Amino acid sequence: MIYLVDLQAQYLSIKSEIDRAIARVLESGQFILGNEVAAFEENFAAYCSAAHCVGLNSGTSALHLALLAAGVGPGDEVITVPFTFVATIAAIHYTGATPVFVDIDPVSYTMDPDKLERAITARTKAILPVHLYGQPAEMDPILGIARGHSKIVIEDAAQAHGAEYKGRRVGSLGEIACFSFYPGKNLGAYGEGGAIVTNNSEYDRIVRALRDWGQSRRYYHNLRGFNYRMEAMQGAILRVKLRHLERWTEVRRYTADLYREVLPDAGIGLPAEMPYSRHVYHFFAVRTSGRDAMVRRLADAGVQAGIHYPIPVHLQPAYTDARYKEGDFPVSEQIAKEILSLPIYPEMTRAQIDKVAGIISSTAGADGVLYK
Ligand SMILES: Cc1ncc(COP(=O)(O)O)c(C=O)c1O
Repeated sequence: MIYLVDLQAQYLSIKSEIDRAIARVLESGQFILGNEVAAFEENFAAYCSAAHCVGLNSGTSALHLALLAAGVGPGDEVITVPFTFVATIAAIHYTGATPVFVDIDPVSYTMDPDKLERAITARTKAILPVHLYGQPAEMDPILGIARGHSKIVIEDAAQAHGAEYKGRRVGSLGEIACFSFYPGKNLGAYGEGGAIVTNNSEYDRIVRALRDWGQSRRYYHNLRGFNYRMEAMQGAILRVKLRHLERWTEVRRYTADLYREVLPDAGIGLPAEMPYSRHVYHFFAVRTSGRDAMVRRLADAGVQAGIHYPIPVHLQPAYTDARYKEGDFPVSEQIAKEILSLPIYPEMTRAQIDKVAGIISSTAGADGVLYK
């Protein structure tokens, strides 16, 4: 079986370091925040070339608190994309604000800057681009438009640890960036985890307070906060894994190059690495108009594929909104029908890559299926 991500293989490759870190936490008796989380925060801020990092219990919490720190609340609008994981939009709703969508670019699959300006209104408070699949959004024009209108930019970097835009790390491009350490992420905890990263000490201070019940000191609550604290165990595990992340990212990039070499030229659309980006390939997402047949063939041969994501958020039943209907975001809607994530993870072998490519090559054109 070839999994989309193989977390067991990764654990076995760093088992002794992880086991030592877990034992250290158990022996310390400190299970929430504490030294392990503080040390991880320092290391991850440096990794993102940012001044501050606040460890949290999920990427969703990171988005929620980043929006609150930016002052987003009821009556405000936050501009984002409909082609993302639902958490991006859910977090906007948590604040009482309204998500406003702009479509994605058909090549990068990230926010189309040409469509951004006309979505800005007097109520717009923040712009929330998503670095989807590990590729940064086209940040210079997005930041330029945001600055021109005095809007805050929050990066959804949940899938993009270590990605770079024109040589600059995601996490230090906008005012605040949000990361997820969900186990399957490029940097994954062994449970839930997330963080915000920022160069702004005021945002750092607010998020730090909000994650722990808005306390200025114990039982003195200046803000209405949350229980969004990172566990010490996750901090300790993430510290170990962060030491390996650059190597893992290079292997992901090499795996993407190999896929490009061995996948067929015709029949599928390969992901584009934009000239401005260091893509970190959280997903290696191809396009095919014969997706169902392709998924079936892969599954029959013991290969797990993923669909990220089959329905854009404006068409999800829980997020329907009278302002939006089918046809409003044609690029997102088309790509949602065709996108298919192939297995990619640092421990994947050349033989596994060849096997996946072989199935795809032999499927193209079969079953009367036509591929782009
Ligand atoms: C783009 C995006 N945003 C936000 C999230 C939410 O992160 P978490 O699952 O850690 O809450 C995820 C993770 O699944 C994601 O992929």
